[in-house]
Amino acid sequence: MKVMKKENNTKANLIKSMAVPASAMMVLSGASAVILANDDVNLAPVIEEPAPVESVIPDGPIGEPVESSAEITVSEETETYNSQESEAPAAAEEEVPAEDGQSEDQQKEETPEEAEQTPAATPEPAPVTEPDAAVNTVPTDAAAPAPEATVQKTETTAAAAPAANAKAETPAVDKEQEEEAYREQYHFSNEKGWSNDPNGMVYYNGEWHLFFQYYPDGVNHGPMSWGHAVSKDLVHWAELDIPDTFNAALFPSEDGTRRHFSGSAVYDKDNTSGFFKDGQGGLVAVWTVAGRPAGMSGGGSQRQAIAYSTDGIHWVEPDLGYDRVYVDRDGNIHELTEKQKDYYKNVVLSEYNVPLAVRDAEGNIIGTTSQDPLNNSAFRDPKVFWHEDSKQWIMAVAGGPLRFYSSPDLKTWTAQAMQDDIITECPELYYLPVEGTDEYKYVLSEGGRWYQIGDFKEVDGVWTFVPDTMNGPTGDVPLRLNMNYAPDAYAAQSFYKEDGRVVMVQWMSNWSYADNSTVRQPDGSKVTLEGIRKMLGEKHNGQFTLMADLSVVRTPEGLRLKQTPVAEYDQMKNLEVKDDIVLDDKSNPLEGIHSQQFQFEIEFAPEKGTEKVVLEVLKNKDYQTTIWYDVNTGILHVDRSKSMAAEQAPADHMQNGTWFKFLQDYTAPVAMTNGKIKLKVFVDNYSVEVYAGNDTIVLTELVFPYKDADLLNLYAVGTPVNATYSFATMDSYRKDNTDMRNLSGTLADAKDQLERGQGNYTDESFKALQDAYKAAFAAAFNPDSTQNSINLANYALTNALTNLRANADKPITVTPEKPTTVTDIYDSTAKPVVSETPAQAVSAASVSSEGTPTAAATGFGMTLATAIGALAGAVFTNRKRREQE
Ligand code: FRU
Repeated sequence: MKVMKKENNTKANLIKSMAVPASAMMVLSGASAVILANDDVNLAPVIEEPAPVESVIPDGPIGEPVESSAEITVSEETETYNSQESEAPAAAEEEVPAEDGQSEDQQKEETPEEAEQTPAATPEPAPVTEPDAAVNTVPTDAAAPAPEATVQKTETTAAAAPAANAKAETPAVDKEQEEEAYREQYHFSNEKGWSNDPNGMVYYNGEWHLFFQYYPDGVNHGPMSWGHAVSKDLVHWAELDIPDTFNAALFPSEDGTRRHFSGSAVYDKDNTSGFFKDGQGGLVAVWTVAGRPAGMSGGGSQRQAIAYSTDGIHWVEPDLGYDRVYVDRDGNIHELTEKQKDYYKNVVLSEYNVPLAVRDAEGNIIGTTSQDPLNNSAFRDPKVFWHEDSKQWIMAVAGGPLRFYSSPDLKTWTAQAMQDDIITECPELYYLPVEGTDEYKYVLSEGGRWYQIGDFKEVDGVWTFVPDTMNGPTGDVPLRLNMNYAPDAYAAQSFYKEDGRVVMVQWMSNWSYADNSTVRQPDGSKVTLEGIRKMLGEKHNGQFTLMADLSVVRTPEGLRLKQTPVAEYDQMKNLEVKDDIVLDDKSNPLEGIHSQQFQFEIEFAPEKGTEKVVLEVLKNKDYQTTIWYDVNTGILHVDRSKSMAAEQAPADHMQNGTWFKFLQDYTAPVAMTNGKIKLKVFVDNYSVEVYAGNDTIVLTELVFPYKDADLLNLYAVGTPVNATYSFATMDSYRKDNTDMRNLSGTLADAKDQLERGQGNYTDESFKALQDAYKAAFAAAFNPDSTQNSINLANYALTNALTNLRANADKPITVTPEKPTTVTDIYDSTAKPVVSETPAQAVSAASVSSEGTPTAAATGFGMTLATAIGALAGAVFTNRKRREQE
């Protein structure tokens, strides 16, 4: 979808002041927060990391703390959105100059001194044992094929446009779009520019609203806005205009920058906020505004603001009337200027150096009250939910240390537990049913990388997250589990929805290579890395994982979070092939299939002596992504180390003291259930997601396959195994789909018939069915097929089946041994010659047959030789019929 930029970037929708008395907040205490690094006690593969270069920085993401018991002092002075030092924006990217003369990006870039005191915030880098191993993972092949451009049809299907979506636009297909080399087809991605975290997710009036961190004018992180997409079914998305409120460009430089960082939205059904008409609810967004207004330098610059809306498109920023002052570095207190007041008018929780004023009767300032008891400059990513037990709103907010707040009305917030032993970006507390019980648990997501299971209860008078399971040598470290075992899922957020359904999505990328960042090397030098933009190009950089329903399940190891891709994806299944097979090291049941956009499920029961079961996807002669289960170790691998040429992939690098390598094998332990393993694999244009262990194990990886890498290979090593699989190509929500559902059914029917063998059917009609099946199968996996050629293939196959059944000499009694692969029946390497003219098909049919067109003659997606052979068969069949008459 095309995003329309507003022509008039004037401040919109200012409303009259709504004075709300400042609630008494907890008086600030202490100076700097002390952060304890947790021990890593999850099931992740053991990682040996080189010693951090900057020893005071917690490694990796928040969520991947250093394995150290050292206490880390975090300064309150530094603002950070993540630990990376960003490069200056590319010339084409618009800079928003800040009041103090710095560009946005300069502002983001921290001084080394600041950086050292800043909690790191990137998702964890890949586990790499030996830095140098990177060099040899993929054979250096000078003649490696370059990624090719592919033609994209970007029409929006009718089903894609949500009703209320007045602003949704059918995008024009411009040249740039057509040449886009990589574009997800059934995963949501923003049409242009940069995106990161999902934001403001809320279900409202029959529509799912997905906002996201957005910079439309470049493909690196920039001055952030909120992008907006809407769906009626979680699968078809329409991208909308950026709401004025969330458009960073609205705020002129004289007011300072105003970047819109991550946050959430709720449906205030009962109008607790009073923003809506009586008896009607509406939406309230709560998010982080970052950036310092004019006249306020240094110190914290992240605060939580609110806005409300009745349609999700037009938002109003209320004036809450809080009385705040600014405290400079020397401790001097300043009244806010009118402009600063305006800037802060909809802020519900401000940073520690813009505290609430305490005044005497004459209005003189006699003190201040900080709204952040931790006084920590990393204060962002509020996620709000309704807490039924205490009948109030709860906010989890972090960016650094985790804090909880409560509110009756979304406007006045009271500090609850300050859990500064948990350091994370984008925190969220899910309230989830334990499957098969009446029980519910709270699951704390640490930015979608880790989770803890426990309860949310009052401890010493404050609402606190209390983990169920403690661990570690002294039993005082909470059990933290992997939410995703691979690197490309971050900043998880779920939709606010009233009926208890919890649907979550993640940004499908990783700060380590998402943008072109500058990172410090072990020798102190700085290197600017080319991230995935190398492959994605300059049009867009951002995509999101599959939507997943969340719940909690009991496993032999204890309670675990279950992430099940939403059932709505089933409607995207187009051509489906299913089978029961015996897998060995010779046959490939998926031979003949060409696809980079599919869903695959397999269940298999390893035998004694079975060593591994392997699925190779996105495969050509030289490259592939390999998903395999090692029966002996119980480890599942999703290995992208040979997915592309090393020199074309993002470069290996040292970041926050850890080596990061893109071409890497990722693993997860997966136990068998009743002697079986079940895997769900979702492949889109440039991503692979694998779900295992009853959806308690998830691995999400970006891969950048060459355009001819569309083959699959499925086999087992060691004793053969019984398996059931289903393979389905997936529709695109971005363009018109060739509907192969009818063909899918006919193929299944024909395959079943063919597997039962010729029996006493005539040679000719059986051969004709074989040929028609072959042609139809090849047409189904030919990217050049059209709706017409698919319909004709289906018609031909239907006729071949009818013809066959009409030509049995006696009832079938023989059931020969089933072939193991679809291509055992045929060699399906020949690609059909596809014609688009129905008239040709009809005329071919009429030549070949005096009565009903035969399967072969109407098998329009066939090679000429096959067609001629089929015609001969058809003539023979008709002659035979005449003889019989
Ligand atoms: C996480 C994050 C958030 C922040 C946003 C800025 O990816 O760093 O903490 O709000 O991105 O874009």
